Amino acid sequence: MATRLIDPGEISGTERYQLNTSLVVPRPIGWISTWDDSGRSNLAPFSFFNAVSGSPMLVAVSVGQRKGSLKDTLVNLRSRRAFCVNIVTEPFLEAMNLTSAEVGPEVDEFELAGLGRAASPRVDAPYVEDCPAVFECEVRQELGLGESTNVLVIGEVVGVRLSEALPMAHGTMVVDSGSLRAVGRMSGAEYMLPRETRILPRP
Ligand SMILES: Cc1cc2nc3c(=O)[nH]c(=O)nc-3n(C[C@H](O)[C@H](O)[C@H](O)COP(=O)(O)O)c2cc1C
Repeated sequence: MATRLIDPGEISGTERYQLNTSLVVPRPIGWISTWDDSGRSNLAPFSFFNAVSGSPMLVAVSVGQRKGSLKDTLVNLRSRRAFCVNIVTEPFLEAMNLTSAEVGPEVDEFELAGLGRAASPRVDAPYVEDCPAVFECEVRQELGLGESTNVLVIGEVVGVRLSEALPMAHGTMVVDSGSLRAVGRMSGAEYMLPRETRILPRP
């Protein structure tokens, strides 16, 4: 097999980002909703996002900077110490994209994308009203990533809101993936919708 050997130290920052985000695919999307200090809501998607522990239930999101300034989400995570993760399902794909607009804190992305908003009763954050699956989270830890301008925020899921329409495998908490239809992010503006799943029992 002919191989290209790429040294990340010899390519540009943009190229490193391109390699990382076109090969680690599909990535889950954490669609993160928060309140700011004055009670305005904020909503933005993050695909440097994943589940990182089962028990306690932890998720991690890596937030970058916008032209040297902090993104609204990070400012709010630091001050409110809480957030919701709205799982991006197929009907919400376009709305999710609208909420990634690089707008100031005065813009409420729920309004921008025409989304209903509700206040979580459990954590100090709003969520997308009709989203079928929502994690209610408290910020547990923030980690610097060396020379990276991204910071990794780890949150504990202290509540899960699930639509009654989402079936679970009998006797378990395994949500049926075919009913959920969660969207994954490929590189750039490319997304993956669930098409086919295969079941492989562990050896
Ligand atoms: C699908 C998708 C995934 C994204 N993932 C990230 C990410 O992981 N980290 C990040 O800093 N920005 C990410 N962005 C860009 C942010 O959503 C964008 O900067 C947004 O305006 C931030 O909003 P805020 O300032 O309200 O926090 C992503 C955008 C899209 C469309």
